[in-house]
Amino acid sequence: MNRMAKFKEIYGDSDVAAQSYFSPGRVNLIGEHIDYSGGNVLPCAIDMGTYAVVRARHDMNVRMMSLNFEKTGILTFDLRQPILPMPEMDWGNYPMGIFKTLMDEGAVFSHGFDMLFEGDLPNGAGLSSSASIEVLTAVILNDAFALNMSRERLAVLCQRSENVFNGVNCGIMDQFIVAVAKADHAVRLDCDTLQYDQIPSALGDYRIVIINTNKKRGLVDSEYNARRRECEAALTILKQEMPKPPAALCALTPKTFLPYAMKLSPTIYRRASHAITENYRTEMACQALENGDLTAFGEWMYRSHDSLQYYYEVSCRELDIIVDFCREQPYVLGARMTGGGFGGCAIALVHEQHTAAFEAALKPLYAAATGLNADIYIAKMSSGARRLV
Ligand code: GLA
Repeated sequence: MNRMAKFKEIYGDSDVAAQSYFSPGRVNLIGEHIDYSGGNVLPCAIDMGTYAVVRARHDMNVRMMSLNFEKTGILTFDLRQPILPMPEMDWGNYPMGIFKTLMDEGAVFSHGFDMLFEGDLPNGAGLSSSASIEVLTAVILNDAFALNMSRERLAVLCQRSENVFNGVNCGIMDQFIVAVAKADHAVRLDCDTLQYDQIPSALGDYRIVIINTNKKRGLVDSEYNARRRECEAALTILKQEMPKPPAALCALTPKTFLPYAMKLSPTIYRRASHAITENYRTEMACQALENGDLTAFGEWMYRSHDSLQYYYEVSCRELDIIVDFCREQPYVLGARMTGGGFGGCAIALVHEQHTAAFEAALKPLYAAATGLNADIYIAKMSSGARRLV
């Protein structure tokens, strides 16, 4: 049964027409764990994501259901009551947070909705299913009530919602790319100023292949927050020590950082080194992409992974096995973990004629080494959250 038919089965008929929307997930090509340190990142949206069918109601209730969590049933809240995060709202806390955050920004909602969601992003794989549903909800509300908020503004509000309402201390990268992406482009985003450029994919005969480790990501939230704190600690010390205090860690270059590196404890030094060199690698990789030098681009990907593995310590054995396999294949130009790490997905730049051979060789090797099955997808760079006609 298609989604619209399912919607009608769940919510019944109405004199109001239902609308369909889609919002992508994302991979980050390079610039990892530096969005919250004011660095440059290079994510792209992918053609897997979250679909919604929505219809205005004649009252102030919002009813939500996800076909991915059918057992949870229909979740309901009332726009006239205070909106607070509640454990029993489960996944629904993400869209609910967007209603609340936009209301706090002055948006006035004159009616509720019936909403049906369905995602095809693998669960917990680090491809930003939360940013996908947040921006999806924000775009739906922006359209329905003609709020005239820019995509950039919506992204910032979605990040705020995840930080404040859902208690997840994420940076801006995921919400931003899901909101502003263009098909066949990646976005180079300066997370300090939120200035960005759309960079044409220019991958020639190569494809971005996504490899899902299917490793359960147990520590991701606590370790993510620990890395953020360590970067903040580095910045505090460097601000005290440097004659020209940097506004953000990524305002430093390897050259300006090095004379002060010894002021940091070994762990804090490794974290700051990652952030500052990753920002440099991202700039270099963007230049390589613009010059059509995919070999150099791939090399920066490998170096990014090395830094995430050894300096930032957010990789894991499963991701390292995949990246090490890639290093041995002549038809792979580069590979790295993508997203928060501790499991989730790696990406690899693979020659299009060899993607089948890549899959055939990697899967048994990975299964033998880890006891897990790797899932492989070829990424298509997609546009941002939108209404489907
Ligand atoms: C998660 C966060 C992002 C970013 C990445 C790491 O996806 O949501 O803000 O920090 O991790 O680059």
